[in-house]
Amino acid sequence: MDRVLIFDTTLRDGEQSPGCTLNTAEKITIAHQLQRMGVDIIEAGFPASSPGDFDAVQRIAREVRGVTICGLARAVPLDIDQAGEALRDAERPRIHVFISSSDIHLAHQLRKSREKVLEMAAEMVARARGFVEDVEFSPMDATRSDPEYLMQMLAIAIEAGATTLNIPDTVGYTTPYEFGRLIADIRAKVPGVEKTIISVHCHDDLGMSVANSLAAVVNGARQIECTINGLGERAGNCSLEEVVMSLRTRKDYYKIDTRVDTTQIYKTSRMVSNYTGMLVQANKAIVGANAFAHESGIHQDGFLKERTTYEIMDPTAVGLVQSTLVLGKHSGRHAFKARLQELGYSLSEEELGRAFARFKEVADLKKSVTDRDIEALIADEVRAPAEIYRLDHVQVSCGDHSIPTATVRLTAPDGAVLVDSAHGTGPVDAVYKAINRVVGVPNRLTEYSVQSVTAGIDAIGEVSIRIEADGRTYSGRGANTDIIVASSRAYINALNKLIANRALTTEGQPAVAS
Ligand code: KIV
Ligand code: ZN
Repeated sequence: MDRVLIFDTTLRDGEQSPGCTLNTAEKITIAHQLQRMGVDIIEAGFPASSPGDFDAVQRIAREVRGVTICGLARAVPLDIDQAGEALRDAERPRIHVFISSSDIHLAHQLRKSREKVLEMAAEMVARARGFVEDVEFSPMDATRSDPEYLMQMLAIAIEAGATTLNIPDTVGYTTPYEFGRLIADIRAKVPGVEKTIISVHCHDDLGMSVANSLAAVVNGARQIECTINGLGERAGNCSLEEVVMSLRTRKDYYKIDTRVDTTQIYKTSRMVSNYTGMLVQANKAIVGANAFAHESGIHQDGFLKERTTYEIMDPTAVGLVQSTLVLGKHSGRHAFKARLQELGYSLSEEELGRAFARFKEVADLKKSVTDRDIEALIADEVRAPAEIYRLDHVQVSCGDHSIPTATVRLTAPDGAVLVDSAHGTGPVDAVYKAINRVVGVPNRLTEYSVQSVTAGIDAIGEVSIRIEADGRTYSGRGANTDIIVASSRAYINALNKLIANRALTTEGQPAVAS
């Protein structure tokens, strides 16, 4: 095999990041964009984990073609059956079965003997093969497992029908040299391994997930599991954009590439950040705001003389290009829709109507509306899935000699119009207190950040917040040329998610991940 398969798990492991909940419509849009970008496999979710996840996997399986759609399952019959059912209509379905292999997990989590776990692995891989031809098996916590036992488990999984063997560094513990050797050993010693593809799934707890994945490729791994913007449990997973661009930029060294259309990377990163509410740090490799910015005079001088003096990648290779089409207040719905499609968003007529109305409001205030502005508006306007409370009006009075005071008017789920006021230490505090008086759902604001979407005094301000309640984190995002309005929208967005999640839990269904 002359290329590395890219297995994207943004919609499964990525969505496990605290506060990263995506609704089904957002997952479908992201899945289409991942397919357009050319990933080989999309892990669409964990069907048995909640009815919402089942639904999302099933809808992606039905709608997204030209790519393998995978569903995760623990090595228990119910999970396998649910995954099989959710994936029934997929063009290319894959079930991903996992069970722990480390003694720490066996003793403290599974509380099962080594023999019992081998038996479960074999039975459940065989059960998954009853549904699909393509079965991936993962021995969880592989890098802290006894290598002999790990290899025994892999051999048993192959015999039972696994076609891909995924080696997870579940807790981000391994190092590139050690991991490379483990992959080489597996290739050399596990009977039947030549009939399978070796995959790796690295977490970033020590910041080595990309390096570990690349070391595995050098030693024969041919599938990398990764996420957009490196999202995922704790410190996240191997970042798709970093690993793909490493293979592309250093093809001279790795001598292998992927099928990914790298010009789609930037767009996909923005989409995932907007939908999940997880900001991308400015100095993040490949997709950070500073990834292609040159500040030092010497660097600027060299760069201006010849780009390659200080740039190993061309920004256009990751899709960082200025749009030639600038939208403004005279742009019509057709041009707006066409631009949205180019950015990877396909909205329903109703969503398009709302987004276009917001676009017109902004276009009246700003001379030109950029792609970043449009993305911010889409995230703000279209992603309010469960609009339980709606912000109708917010008004503040503040200044250096006055007490910051806010009045808000919200529409409640039953249509009632509710008005209240409060004062606070600043305008945002006053608004949040006024909203709290109306909504009455206790929570703790754990993060608040405001960013300007583009340069200029008329820029849209994008506010991202996180709140905590009932031991869960909820993110909220709002965008507006007025940052107090953006702050209010972000708070209402997060509160609506909290309320929707509580309703689900009290109805006795499993809570959606947040
Ligand atoms: O990190 C991990 O071990 C996982 C498995 C389910 C593959 O996410
Ligand atoms: Zn993981």
